[in-house]
Amino acid sequence: MDIKTVKLIYFSPTRTTKTILEGIAQGMGTDNVEHIDLTLPDRTIENINFSGNDFVIFGMPVYGGRIPAMAADLLEKFKGDSALAAVVVVYGNRAYGDALLELKNIAVEFGFKPVAAGAFIGEHSFSNKEFPIGAGRPDKDDISETEAFGKSILDKMQKSNNVDDMAQIDVPGNFPYKDGVTPSKAAASTDNDACTMCETCATVCPTGAITYEDEVITDNDKCILCSACVKVCPTEARGLKVPPLLEKIKLLSENCKEPKKPELFI
Ligand SMILES: Cc1cc2nc3c(=O)[nH]c(=O)nc-3n(C[C@H](O)[C@H](O)[C@H](O)COP(=O)(O)O)c2cc1C
Repeated sequence: MDIKTVKLIYFSPTRTTKTILEGIAQGMGTDNVEHIDLTLPDRTIENINFSGNDFVIFGMPVYGGRIPAMAADLLEKFKGDSALAAVVVVYGNRAYGDALLELKNIAVEFGFKPVAAGAFIGEHSFSNKEFPIGAGRPDKDDISETEAFGKSILDKMQKSNNVDDMAQIDVPGNFPYKDGVTPSKAAASTDNDACTMCETCATVCPTGAITYEDEVITDNDKCILCSACVKVCPTEARGLKVPPLLEKIKLLSENCKEPKKPELFI
C-alpha cells in the first residue's frame, strides 16, 4: 500500500491521547504527519474526504466507557472513501467499556477501513497528588508500545493488498452500548485566593465554559469535567472539588491501582 500521509484525528483535553497517537505515527516511520485536533472550540472543521494515500489514526479518550459524545458528533465531517485507518482509545486505568467498538463502528460508518485498533492508558483526568489514578501514564513503556504498534500496522499493510482482508479486526465491546457519562451539574471550580487571573484555564477549555469578570466564571452546564483547566493551572487554583466527585476520585484511586497494559487488535 502506498501511504503518503498519516493523519491524526483526535480530541484530547489533557493531551494523553495526542501523545499516544504521535507515538504510533512515529512507529510508522513517516515524516509526513498531519494533525486534525478537534479539542478546542475554535476548531474549524471542514468536511474532509480522505483517499487511499492517507492513513488515518482516530484517537479518543474514554469517558464513562464511551467516547465523549461531543467528540463523536464531530467525526461526521470525515469521509473515508475506503481509506485505511486505525482506531485508538485512551483510558484512565479503570476500563474502556464500549469505547473502542464505538469508535471502530463510527469509522466504518463513515467509510474508513480500520486495520488496527488499540486501547492505551493515560493518566486519569481526575488524578491528583492526593488521589493518583494512572499517574504518569503514558510512561516510557507505553510509548515503546505505541511505536511497536505503529510498526506492526506498517508491516500488516506491506504484507497485503487486500483492504477487506486487512480490515477484519474484532474489538471488545457490546452493542447496544452502555450509557456513557451521567449528566450532572458537577464542574471544575476556582479557588479565588490562589487564582492569579492568568486566563490559561480558558485557553484550554474544549467547550468554552470558562469566562472572566472580576473572577473566573465557570458555566457548569458546559463543563464536561475533562480537567484540561485543572492540569494547566500554574497555581493549582482549579480543581474538581464537588463532594460527590471527590468521593468518586478517592474510590477510583483505591480501585484502579494495578497498572493496566495496552491492548492491541491487529
Ligand atoms: C468525564 C470523564 C469520564 C472518564 N471515564 C473514564 C472511564 O470510564 N474509564 C477510564 O479508565 N478512564 C476514564 N476517564 C479518564 C480518561 O479516559 C483519561 O484520563 C484519558 O487519558 C484522557 O485523555 P486526554 O488526555 O486525551 O484528555 C474519564 C475522564 C473524564 C473527564
